Amino acid sequence: MGIILRYLACSFLYPLISAVPINDPFREWHRQSISKFWHISDLHLDPSYHITEDPTKVCFSSKGFPASDPGLFGDFLCDSPYQLIESAFRYMKDVDLEPEFIIWTGDSPPHVPIDELSTDIVISVISNMTHTIHQFFPQLPVYPALGNHDYWPQDQLAVNACEVYEAAATLWAPWLHSEALATLRKGGFYSQLIKPGLRLVSLNTNLYYSPNKVTVNVTDPADQLQWLEDTLEMSKQSMERAYVIAHVPIGYLPYAKNTTAIREHFNERLVDIFRNYSDIIQGHFYGHTHRNSIMVLLDRQGKPVNSVFVTPAVTPIRSVQEQYSNNPAVRMYLYNSQDYGLQDLWQFYLNLTEANKEERPTWRLEYAMTKAFDIKDIQPESLYKLALEFEVPQSKAFQKYFNYFMVSYNDSITCEDECKTVQVCSVRFLDNESYSQCISKAALFNA
Ligand SMILES: *[C@@H]1O[C@H](CO)[C@@H](O)[C@H](O)[C@H]1NC(C)=O
Ligand SMILES: *[C@@H]1O[C@H](CO)[C@@H](O)[C@H](O)[C@H]1NC(C)=O
Ligand SMILES: *[C@@H]1O[C@H](CO)[C@@H](O)[C@H](O)[C@H]1NC(C)=O
Ligand SMILES: *[C@@H]1O[C@H](CO)[C@@H](O)[C@H](O)[C@H]1NC(C)=O
Ligand SMILES: *[C@@H]1O[C@H](CO)[C@@H](O)[C@H](O)[C@H]1NC(C)=O
Ligand SMILES: *[C@@H]1O[C@H](CO)[C@@H](O)[C@H](O)[C@H]1NC(C)=O
Ligand SMILES: *[C@@H]1O[C@H](CO)[C@@H](O)[C@H](O)[C@H]1NC(C)=O
Ligand SMILES: [Zn+2]
Ligand SMILES: [Zn+2]
Repeated sequence: MGIILRYLACSFLYPLISAVPINDPFREWHRQSISKFWHISDLHLDPSYHITEDPTKVCFSSKGFPASDPGLFGDFLCDSPYQLIESAFRYMKDVDLEPEFIIWTGDSPPHVPIDELSTDIVISVISNMTHTIHQFFPQLPVYPALGNHDYWPQDQLAVNACEVYEAAATLWAPWLHSEALATLRKGGFYSQLIKPGLRLVSLNTNLYYSPNKVTVNVTDPADQLQWLEDTLEMSKQSMERAYVIAHVPIGYLPYAKNTTAIREHFNERLVDIFRNYSDIIQGHFYGHTHRNSIMVLLDRQGKPVNSVFVTPAVTPIRSVQEQYSNNPAVRMYLYNSQDYGLQDLWQFYLNLTEANKEERPTWRLEYAMTKAFDIKDIQPESLYKLALEFEVPQSKAFQKYFNYFMVSYNDSITCEDECKTVQVCSVRFLDNESYSQCISKAALFNA
């Protein structure tokens, strides 16, 4: 981690000159015209969080279970206290890495029973988070996507205009053009040209999420698939590049065998569309699982064509049955400002246990991807090579990947046999056929 950590360390020791790039790597990025943006996701604010004698009363989001070790910055059985979210934004602001924009992939309200919330409460939480982000980053454009919790009742996002889409369009109007706001109002999705030649496409994949009952028999909910194809076609004709952002990811879950995050047939259709337009798509950015994972989309001949990233959450919550959780996390991407190709990602995190113990939130760099995994960039070919390395028995790279999957929650927890199979198959195989083959092949080896 040496070089970047040293740079960050410098900025703490000499906060007054932190804006002045003094070290070599920074100059090098500058020379190669590297630009940066932040990715934040799954803030899940729990306004009820407070320290109190009775551990079952610390937060509504623990659903009556006793909080495990509650402190100022949260608990692994609770959603985020406001202080935790503030500490993340304060760090992002103070570290001053000169980002150009922020992508924000949704899920602001807490995990609480449906009758604890309402459409008004959900909107007020989204509003609070929007204003908070605005207060910290008044100059930065922010590109949001809606999450399955950004609705009431949760997961049931509508296929037409509704109160939540209307509220989101009003709240996000300072960041979006009127054309984007128009589709946001109608279906919760939009696209916007964010720099000359770079289009951001923000999808409402909650429409395809398995628990969404509204879309069960709908072929193309809110006509988003048609719109996506038209948008990518238009983008291609205009010689643009595109970043795709959304809350619920495509592909298979890295922790549940043979399970897509969105309904299987919608996954097949999205993967099909993305393969057809992979030459203009420079990256996919998702959230929702709360964990840190990568995927690499292969074309129909098996050649790596797109890098896909799932960013870990700010909220540290886990359910009582789960063996592990994630430390709170925010992420920065570095990209080439000429062709918009992704160069690196820097994962930042808060050691929640330490922050609570010291009553001070020390956010740090967890790792820089190219350095941690010894790859030259985070383009599809590089991720593909890394995926092959993961598959080697006892792979050190995979152990590291799994520790980062949990945002350094506990490096004694290991992932072997079936756990590892499910993880590694999800990295390279995003469609039904190739994924099933990967799982069956692994079953043969393990037999
Ligand atoms: C957001 O909610 C928190 C409490 O949960 C409150 O302290 C803060 O002032 C609110 N901020 C905005 C901008 O609404
Ligand atoms: C979907 O279609 C099936 C088969 O026609 C039907 O049984 C089911 O009730 C429908 N579900 C919804 C939510 O419309
Ligand atoms: C996925 O594959 C299985 C078995 O190969 C098949 O039964 C199923 O219909 C496929 N699903 C889709 C959406 O293609
Ligand atoms: C993608 O391209 C293939 C091959 O050209 C074509 O058959 C298919 O219909 C296209 N699919 C979509 C969703 O555009
Ligand atoms: C987080 O902090 C705790 C308590 O100080 C410490 O035991 C643990 O090793 C730290 N974890 C990491 C990844 O540094
Ligand atoms: C870390 O995981 C190991 C293995 O599951 C467990 O024994 C240990 O108690 C965990 N440590 C913490 C601090 O949770
Ligand atoms: C995966 O799940 C699908 C749909 O639930 C099923 O059709 C398929 O047979 C399963 N495949 C494997 C390898 O378990
Ligand atoms: Zn979430
Ligand atoms: Zn979610």
